[in-house]
Amino acid sequence: MTQHTHSKCCINPSILSADFVNLEAELARISTADAVHVDVMDNHFVPNLTLGLPVVTRIAQVSPIPLDVHLMISDADRWAPAYAQAGAASVTFHAEASAAPIKLARELRAHGAKAAMALRPATAVEPYLDMLTELDMLLIMTVEPGFGGQSFLDVTLPKIRRAAKAIADAGVDVAIQVDGGITAETIERAAEAGASIFVAGSAVYGATDPAQAISELRAAGQKILNR
Ligand code: DX5
Ligand code: ZN
Repeated sequence: MTQHTHSKCCINPSILSADFVNLEAELARISTADAVHVDVMDNHFVPNLTLGLPVVTRIAQVSPIPLDVHLMISDADRWAPAYAQAGAASVTFHAEASAAPIKLARELRAHGAKAAMALRPATAVEPYLDMLTELDMLLIMTVEPGFGGQSFLDVTLPKIRRAAKAIADAGVDVAIQVDGGITAETIERAAEAGASIFVAGSAVYGATDPAQAISELRAAGQKILNR
């Protein structure tokens, strides 16, 4: 059984699957969520382009819930701190896109945000275990970043388990987030492996009632975390 250092199940809907022309109304539909996941893509680190700092700044001003910003951008060292200054509660940069991840994580915290680092599905967690103390959250991608609506990659489950064990062994306060292909079914496997924060795009915004989808996901995840 995986040891969970974090036992509260958090659901962070991704606005990547929302209507970008009606963002304020789309935010109101997920006001019961723990945070809103904002996917920033630069058509360089990933083959897709979404939104950037001016839009994220406005979202931070009008959102009823905290912002969980996921930066899928190159040269994160240069651009990430501005998202913390814009009011994001947490800023996640990719390990593959940062030349100095420890320095960057410290900068994010200095700006008052939680510092988080993401790993693509094929990036190993082991080289980063010694810097867990610098992080508040570790995002283990469960699809290749770039697009919503992809299928959950079960091949990432052993990495989630190893990360959860390392976090428990080190006694550090780091939550594991998973992003990609999370549904009422896959959330159970991810929670069993050790994740406690779940990003869901299509499972929430593709539902007729996003608030109901959030509560169903939360119940499915919490049931596992309570064990
Ligand atoms: C993918 C993004 C995800 C995406 C998840 O690169 O990081 O946040 O929105 O969408 P679903 O839940 O549909 O897989
Ligand atoms: Zn994301």
